[in-house]
Amino acid sequence: MVEFDSQNSIICPLGVFVIGTYDESGVPNAMTAAWGSQSDFGEISISLSKHKTTENFEKTGAFTVAFATADTVKESDYFGIESGKNINKIEKAGFHYRKSDKVNAPIILEYPLTLECKVRNWNTETGILTGEIVSSVASESIITDGKVDLGKLRPIMYDSSMHLYRVIGEAVGHAYSEGISIKNSGAAQKWDN
Ligand SMILES: Cc1cc2nc3c(=O)[nH]c(=O)nc-3n(C[C@H](O)[C@H](O)[C@H](O)COP(=O)(O)O)c2cc1C
Repeated sequence: MVEFDSQNSIICPLGVFVIGTYDESGVPNAMTAAWGSQSDFGEISISLSKHKTTENFEKTGAFTVAFATADTVKESDYFGIESGKNINKIEKAGFHYRKSDKVNAPIILEYPLTLECKVRNWNTETGILTGEIVSSVASESIITDGKVDLGKLRPIMYDSSMHLYRVIGEAVGHAYSEGISIKNSGAAQKWDN
């Protein structure tokens, strides 16, 4: 076995989330974050250092989260390597935006799937932002039978081991169902559940 210390231990998958915010003058910003996850029904939590983004949502109480895709790798990486303190990164990347109908935050039009969130809690000690997902918008191009089709979206994940972006896609089984045959098999059981 190979051992890794706490700094080098890998959690996977990490998403590639693009957080959209407005500043007090309505200038939009986008930043990339990988340390985030669903934390309840209708809730997302993200671990953040201090950024232009955090200054922005402290004032507006709102943000959006778009999912970076295989088609938006370059721009999504860029949003994570330059600060929006003195520059409109969305414009510089050649992307376009509109205001969300539901929250005071921008929706970047080049991303096919975006969550619209209100700040539920921002803990400046732990750096954990928790957002209530008020609504979400998806482009028709990623919908199959009324559902978001991740095969069409082609979201990417952050491989923090190799510092790569990898595409998420191939389906390999049905959730809550692939294990039923083992559950129902006659093998000796040690516990009741
Ligand atoms: C792949 C990737 C993942 C990142 N994940 C995070 C993260 O989870 N939390 C964080 O605070 N910064 C993260 N960053 C760094 C910010 O995106 C970066 O500091 C950015 O410039 C902040 O933008 P802003 O100042 O315009 O808000 C990440 C950057 C990259 C490239």
